[in-house]
Amino acid sequence: MMPVDKMERIGVFTSGGDAPGMNACLRAVVRKAISCGKEVIGIRRGYQGMIEADFEALNSLSVSNIIQNGGTILKSARSDAFRTSEGRQTAADNLRKAGIDGLIAIGGDGTLAGAALFFEEHQIPLIGCPGTIDNDLFGTDETIGYDTALNTAIENIDKIRDTADAHDRLFLVEVMGRDAGFIALHSGIGGGAEMVLVPETLSDINKIKTHIHALMSEQHRSSIVVVAEGDELGGASQIASAMHEDERFKHIDLRVCILGHIQRGGSPSARDRVLASRLGVAAVDALLDGHANVMVGIIDNQVRLTPSRNVYSKKKSISYELLELTQLLN
Ligand code: F6P
Repeated sequence: MMPVDKMERIGVFTSGGDAPGMNACLRAVVRKAISCGKEVIGIRRGYQGMIEADFEALNSLSVSNIIQNGGTILKSARSDAFRTSEGRQTAADNLRKAGIDGLIAIGGDGTLAGAALFFEEHQIPLIGCPGTIDNDLFGTDETIGYDTALNTAIENIDKIRDTADAHDRLFLVEVMGRDAGFIALHSGIGGGAEMVLVPETLSDINKIKTHIHALMSEQHRSSIVVVAEGDELGGASQIASAMHEDERFKHIDLRVCILGHIQRGGSPSARDRVLASRLGVAAVDALLDGHANVMVGIIDNQVRLTPSRNVYSKKKSISYELLELTQLLN
């Protein structure tokens, strides 16, 4: 492994699903590294760009005026080629040819899993920054992009509430999160949903139907059920089909709204910008302190390092206390 005092050139990339705040994190990485006298090379389109040697030198100006923008100026990709050992070998050869001595990866669990494997095979020091709207990474209280996505979800649930109320309709609103229920649980509470379905608990379709039917027929009002896309019953459309097949729902006006990629876009919230800036700086510090194959995170307002393998193999739990709160408040 490269001795830390010899580390001259740092490569940085964004990978997997983009998340609001990735640009803010990139900006912090570039400016912190430059302030430490290091060169920074941006790797476009994540691991795919590493394989294709799609590199560009970044300076302070390259990252000006981006902190407020969603998406990622380095672009992102999900690379099939990087899943092969040949692909990873090409990536390592390209990095060495370009004189890149250390890497900072901004992404989610797939990115961190790839990073751990790459480090084990090629020993290029790599620090991960948690960037995903899903908030499903162990080793940090929140991931970059989660707060913005959550606020986007709530904003849209509020809008759906208006039209649901006007027509006394039942809406099943599907939110992202892959296998995790963070966005669903928190947007459900914040949006005052009548019910929240998350992958972390078993949902019983009969109980759900009975409860929602009672709400709709006894109280003659609108209802919103927030459904995490990873719920084991399937997404909102599957639950709607199960309701349509039930005689009791014949007179209930039901609509499905899938929020989808809207949750990934938009200007990052203040909270995400600050989190991303702190983590970008912490990642450079960790790399220059000689750490490798770890992710930087913030737990109880303190920067913490977690081995990359733990980040995706250990499960971060949603709050069951909050889950109970949804039942109490609806
Ligand atoms: O991991 C972020 C995420 O937005 C998930 O919430 C979602 O399941 C997935 O990515 C969608 O991926 P894609 O944009 O590749 O369809």
